[in-house]
Amino acid sequence: MSEHLTVVNHPLVQHKLTLMRQKETSTAVFRQLLREISQLLAYEITRELPMTTKTIETPMVEMEAPVLDGKKLALVSILRAGNGLLDGVLELIPSARVGFVGLYRDEETLQPVQYYFKVPEELQERLVIAVDPMLATGNSSAAAIDLLKEAGATNIRFLCLLAAPEGVARMKEAHPDVPIVTASLDEKLNDMGYIVPGLGDAGDRMFGTK
Ligand code: URA
Repeated sequence: MSEHLTVVNHPLVQHKLTLMRQKETSTAVFRQLLREISQLLAYEITRELPMTTKTIETPMVEMEAPVLDGKKLALVSILRAGNGLLDGVLELIPSARVGFVGLYRDEETLQPVQYYFKVPEELQERLVIAVDPMLATGNSSAAAIDLLKEAGATNIRFLCLLAAPEGVARMKEAHPDVPIVTASLDEKLNDMGYIVPGLGDAGDRMFGTK
């Protein structure tokens, strides 16, 4: 992908996102919409995957038919809200390998600290798609990408539902080589680090916690 930021302005994505933003939307409906929207975003982020051909036989003739080239993709969920995006993306790319990165924020230093890290083998040979619904300050996303690069990943894309300008700027500074695909570039972050207008806490809304 050549652009650093791609906003998917597809009518279905935008309509579903509006439903997700509404505070009265139930957990069940929010989850279902997230599943649907993540498939549409996955479609966009995989648009330029390398292709090759293989010889197949249709009932009519032999032909050279297009297939994906290279090793299976790696999807990496940034816990915990990343799991909501992961489910939908996996429905579209069921053979993808899956990894998880767990980070929490140290309340004194405000820096992300790793508590879990498990990723597929041969990361350097795979397209890695890191998923996290909310690109807010960008600190945890940038830290997660640092860890993926330390583990060998060289070809990484970042998939989110909403992005704040602050998070996009932070990612561009730390990881200019990582294209971002999102459904919306929102207005700003508030003092608490929430995206505005946003949709609230994505993890709480998808898991029904407070
Ligand atoms: N994480 C969320 O879940 N929501 C925000 O608005 C920002 C970060």
